[in-house]
Amino acid sequence: MAVGIFDSGLGGLTVLDAVQARLPEVPFVYYADSAHTPYGVRDSQDIYELTTRGVQRLFDAGCDLVILACNTASAAALRRMQEGWVPRDKRVLGVFVPLIEALTERKWGDNSPPREVAVKHVALFATPATVSSRAFQRELAFRAIGVDVEAQACGGVVDAIEEGDMILAEALVSSHVEALKRKMPNPDAAILGCTHYPIMQDQFQAALGPDVRVFSQANLVAESLADYLARHPEMTGPGDTAGFLTTGDPRKVSAGATRFLRRQITFDAA
Ligand code: DGL
Repeated sequence: MAVGIFDSGLGGLTVLDAVQARLPEVPFVYYADSAHTPYGVRDSQDIYELTTRGVQRLFDAGCDLVILACNTASAAALRRMQEGWVPRDKRVLGVFVPLIEALTERKWGDNSPPREVAVKHVALFATPATVSSRAFQRELAFRAIGVDVEAQACGGVVDAIEEGDMILAEALVSSHVEALKRKMPNPDAAILGCTHYPIMQDQFQAALGPDVRVFSQANLVAESLADYLARHPEMTGPGDTAGFLTTGDPRKVSAGATRFLRRQITFDAA
């Protein structure tokens, strides 16, 4: 009954942690495409090819349902995969919809027309590829009207976090928030639209100020997955072994993951 969690690298471990805590009985297989991270600076064709390859590997590991923890893959590849690539008996879900449901206070499957919602000015912080895909705005437009979204491509933050340079990461967060505020001085809400940013949530909140509600995806995705599996128990696949797979050097990736999550993680070659 395994479920797959796909990410371009280590950032998706923030999502893994949350889904494991929410669904301790489910074995999760985590796939990190460490050989090709970061995705945030790649073009959409490249992201599509890498994501389908990784998701296929998770299908082969006995997962019928795969969560794209990576926002960049969710933004640049998911729709195309769902439209023409995902086999009939498998499912691939992304991370934007749970976030947008929380932001717009709508429930899953509420297909009523888009309507006015409480938030009016939303700041989106994400990778350059996610920002240029405009996938967040597209998904939001299905559910809400009258919401002004200002997106800030946060170049450099993922690399700084992956390298463990938190001083640089903090400085970059401050400067990206300043840049956003020049375009939108008073956002009501901010979306941390990248797997790595929950680690910097306090810095985003401090730079944005206490009046801005910051939405971070790990717990929202965990709730949404629990709800999905309660409605579709058949989608927990035949695999029964949890594990960690990487396209990178397993020893190096295991060391990075252990530092990232502050507990021992052992990756195998994908
Ligand atoms: N996992 C990616 C995301 O959530 C961030 C890292 C990358 O650029 O690959 O957007």
